[in-house]
Amino acid sequence: PVHALTQQLRDRKASGEKLAVLTAYDYPTARLFDEAGIDLILVGDSLGMVVLGLPDTTGVTMNMMLHHAAAVRRGVKKAPVIVDLPANTYGNPDHALHNAERLVAAGADAVKLEGGVDMIDSVRAITKEGIAYVGHIGMLPQSVLKEGGYKKKGRTEDGASQLLEDAVALEEAGAAAIVLESIVPDVAARISSSIKIPTIGIGAGSACDAQVLVSHDLLGLFPWFVPPFAVQEANLAMEITRAARKFVERVKGE
Ligand code: KIV
Ligand code: NA
Repeated sequence: PVHALTQQLRDRKASGEKLAVLTAYDYPTARLFDEAGIDLILVGDSLGMVVLGLPDTTGVTMNMMLHHAAAVRRGVKKAPVIVDLPANTYGNPDHALHNAERLVAAGADAVKLEGGVDMIDSVRAITKEGIAYVGHIGMLPQSVLKEGGYKKKGRTEDGASQLLEDAVALEEAGAAAIVLESIVPDVAARISSSIKIPTIGIGAGSACDAQVLVSHDLLGLFPWFVPPFAVQEANLAMEITRAARKFVERVKGE
């Protein structure tokens, strides 16, 4: 049987609706996004960098994800909440299912993990138990150390056909949607037209069915690094600095 969320996302793609997806890691942000009409909310393991100050996502643990997933859950009534399985928590099917169940218990409507055909047994273990699952292919941040950096994917014909094969395999394994990260736009477009579930692009061009941003990049809340594709709609870093300076002035009686 097809999961209700998978069916819903398929139907929304079929109707031509574009979906807006943002990450959230805490109660107020998640609640504001939900009330603003964001379609899907992702508790991403980008948490490690933009909230916890870690150098990359490889040090993020299940306990960190559970803690933040529960906070986001309390703030969201409408949007489905997707939660990332962090690095090294889904390498074999039993491990993947066990950790997916823990995220669901913390409030996840769907879980996401990185990988394609190479992860298919873990994906099947999750979907077989009726847990909604979102794929993630292309540039995989959890593999940054192994890959030696963040690289654009789908530049070669071999790379492009591997990505297409991964997307089709994940859809067959029951994925509700697939994140395409840092994939050449033409290839992302080809993948999007080859599957019936929505593709969620980040740095993958405008032909994807949905777009996701790390919310700090939309809000201007992480000024030390801004990815080139991020369009900032606010500058909260500046606002925070301004308010903090005002408070300092007021307290010191300047
Ligand atoms: O962790 C995250 O924020 C993500 C998105 C960039 C897709 O996985
Ligand atoms: Na992630």
